[in-house]
Amino acid sequence: MVRESTLKRSKGRRILTIMAKIFVTRKIPGEHLEELKKAGHEVEISEFNRPITQEELVEKVKGVDALLCLLTDRIDGDLMDAAGPQLKIISNYAVGFDNVDIKAASDRQIPVCNTPSDEVNEAVAEHTWALILSIARRIVEADEATRRGGYKGWEPDIFIGTNLIGKTLGIIGLGRIGTMVARRAKGYNMTVLYNKHEPDPEAEKELGIKFAPLDELLAKSDFVSLHVPLTEETRHMINKETLAKMKKGSFLVNTARGQVVDERDLIEALKSGHLGGAALDVYDNEPNIDPEFLGMPNTITTPHIASATLEAREKMGQQAVSTILDSLGGKKPENLVNEEVWENRRK
Ligand code: GLV
Ligand code: GLV
Repeated sequence: MVRESTLKRSKGRRILTIMAKIFVTRKIPGEHLEELKKAGHEVEISEFNRPITQEELVEKVKGVDALLCLLTDRIDGDLMDAAGPQLKIISNYAVGFDNVDIKAASDRQIPVCNTPSDEVNEAVAEHTWALILSIARRIVEADEATRRGGYKGWEPDIFIGTNLIGKTLGIIGLGRIGTMVARRAKGYNMTVLYNKHEPDPEAEKELGIKFAPLDELLAKSDFVSLHVPLTEETRHMINKETLAKMKKGSFLVNTARGQVVDERDLIEALKSGHLGGAALDVYDNEPNIDPEFLGMPNTITTPHIASATLEAREKMGQQAVSTILDSLGGKKPENLVNEEVWENRRK
């Protein structure tokens, strides 16, 4: 609700600031939230150092003009209605936005933004490589054994891994992150196959990579890395059938979304020895991780930290905040997910 308009002096110019009510679902690293306050808005930040519950969120959003939310929040049509008709911008502090019902937002003419900067995408691409290297060279397993006192001197047959050179990396989803992962494969002299809706001749030329239909990619890749967003089409796209098409002894890496993989089927493929290993940063039912993954030596499980770098968090904070400031100021923000609503957006 726009309750007050104030004229403010900024660098000698008079600018109109609409004072808005903003709710932030969790404190984020860095100082950017201060900018919302400095702009004269009424800002409330969730007091909890944990994800806010849906019940708490429904209460907190009542009457807000802008919502800064995290990927752990479920922002559906009911929540938008609970906020009220004055809710005019949703800023999701994440690259992925499957936690926001975009159709519901568009139906209500509410713009939604995400934070897909180079810094974040590169952080995810680098984490993907950390996982590829770690699963190939059994880094986590070896480190654990060493810490338990297991290192008794050089041995010819402990922790035998696999070279990357000459191997094939299959990238499913050649968006910005997938492209950054592909670019780094050159340094390891790997062959790269990719799959997306349409072949991308420009990327092929620039990166020396090759399009492959999904079945062919799965059959030929030694490492398969997932970089698709979670949609109805990609939900459980890695399942019993697609896992069976993967090369025996190959590895699966997931820094995308847990629900892209049917975890029960993955566990079976790991237990049977069909897959050589899996390195996961995301899970079907976060924050719960199927205990079977934790008990298997050939899995690596990181706690959804692919974008957790100083640089990425800084940029995410900056984008999530400027999105709100721009939008409230009538300026089209960067990274609008549902661009089509902008012209007729809620005011
Ligand atoms: C993290 O998973 C993100 O989508 O930013
Ligand atoms: C993220 O921006 C992606 O396209 O994968």
